Amino acid sequence: MSFEWYTEFVDTTYVPKKSDLIAYYYFEPIRGMNIKEVIGRIASESSIGTWTTLSTLTKKIYSIRARAFWYTKNFVKIAYPLILWEEGSIPGLLSGIAGNIFGMKAVKSLRLLDVRFPKEFLKHFHGPNYGLTAIKKIFRKKEGPIISTVPKPKIGMTSEQHAKVAYEAWSGGVDCVKDDENLTNQKFNRFENRVKLLAKMRDKVEKETGEIKDAYINVTAPNLKELEKRIKTVYEHGFKYFMLDLVVSGFTAVQTACDLARDYDMAIHGHRAMHASFTRNKKHGITMLFLAKLARLSGVDNIHIGTVVGKLESPKKDVLTIKETITEKFVKEVSGIRLGQEWGRIKPMLPIASGGLHPGLLPALFSIYGTFDIGIQIGGGIHGHPRGTHAGAKAVVQAIEACKEGINLKEHAKEHKELKEALDKWGFVKPK
Ligand code: 3PG
Ligand code: 3PG
Ligand code: MG
Repeated sequence: MSFEWYTEFVDTTYVPKKSDLIAYYYFEPIRGMNIKEVIGRIASESSIGTWTTLSTLTKKIYSIRARAFWYTKNFVKIAYPLILWEEGSIPGLLSGIAGNIFGMKAVKSLRLLDVRFPKEFLKHFHGPNYGLTAIKKIFRKKEGPIISTVPKPKIGMTSEQHAKVAYEAWSGGVDCVKDDENLTNQKFNRFENRVKLLAKMRDKVEKETGEIKDAYINVTAPNLKELEKRIKTVYEHGFKYFMLDLVVSGFTAVQTACDLARDYDMAIHGHRAMHASFTRNKKHGITMLFLAKLARLSGVDNIHIGTVVGKLESPKKDVLTIKETITEKFVKEVSGIRLGQEWGRIKPMLPIASGGLHPGLLPALFSIYGTFDIGIQIGGGIHGHPRGTHAGAKAVVQAIEACKEGINLKEHAKEHKELKEALDKWGFVKPK
């Protein structure tokens, strides 16, 4: 049609500049629409264009349009000149490359697989303060894992009950007590009260055990002012970490939290609740890989990436690809999955495995991850122990010992009562 100019956004002769930001999409056109028409729409709507030619278009603006420079039947790579984006703003970036394009009539489905951030773009982000280095720098351990637990039931306990469970878990060997994603500032467990009581318990356990203990307290709040206040409260009570529900809070909140974490020299445990609403569909939405990359870029230190063996959907291949992407300095392109990325000075994150774990699954988990330098997060698998939280935490520590020494869990259980009790209850079951 004469009023359209979508195909001008497709140019396979274009050689992307080193400074271009590249987005990689999976797409399907609606019936009757040719590929060039569809990818042209994706490049246009995500950069400077709209549905019709414009009297206001200048040569200069035309020159900064995005270009679909490579495509196959279902995959396209689009190059964006950096000038299109505000420096250092993730919301600004997402409203282009992950904005209106998901709803265009001509596009039957569209999935943003990955984005290659050029050096020029990375320059405006700080990345994690600690990430993986927290193992040594915060917990003063030679090696991971960092063990955390969520007091369960998820919500409903009073601050006093919560702090009591925390004490039992910490004293049993857990490093961090974590709030659940849906615990914020409810009537029965007010945020300030929880922070205060947890700090008191932490001091007591640290004195008793000589170990460093921390907490991932959920600062997710209804507005930025309150978010900032909650982070400050956690900081003033001597914690090194706080937790934020990344997706439900949005990237303005994430970047605000990261800024504050820098001021306070703190680390952030990123919770991904709600991610599966857009990451799970293989044909439409945004990948977990890209969400994890955004977290690393903004400065989140820990992020959940799946267990393979636990209760939540997380295929091994995906988990390992994400793990590599958030912990390496440089990753290679994998066709249909991700682009190459140089991270430069941006630190590696601490990958977190959580959801349905218990002692019997730990040997399989560590062998899948191929390292102990991860965070493991166990709720039911600690508080569901037949003799309670304290024994549950001990069973986890004993299972980790066995994994490190290369001893079979059943063998180790012969001399470790708590582990034996855990194995008697759950064996090696993979929960669904
Ligand atoms: C995940 O992988 O996202 C989770 O299992 C969430 O776990 P958490 O609430 O224990 O952090
Ligand atoms: C979750 O919300 O998935 C968790 O906090 C993990 O808990 P779990 O170990 O009981 O599955
Ligand atoms: Mg949870």
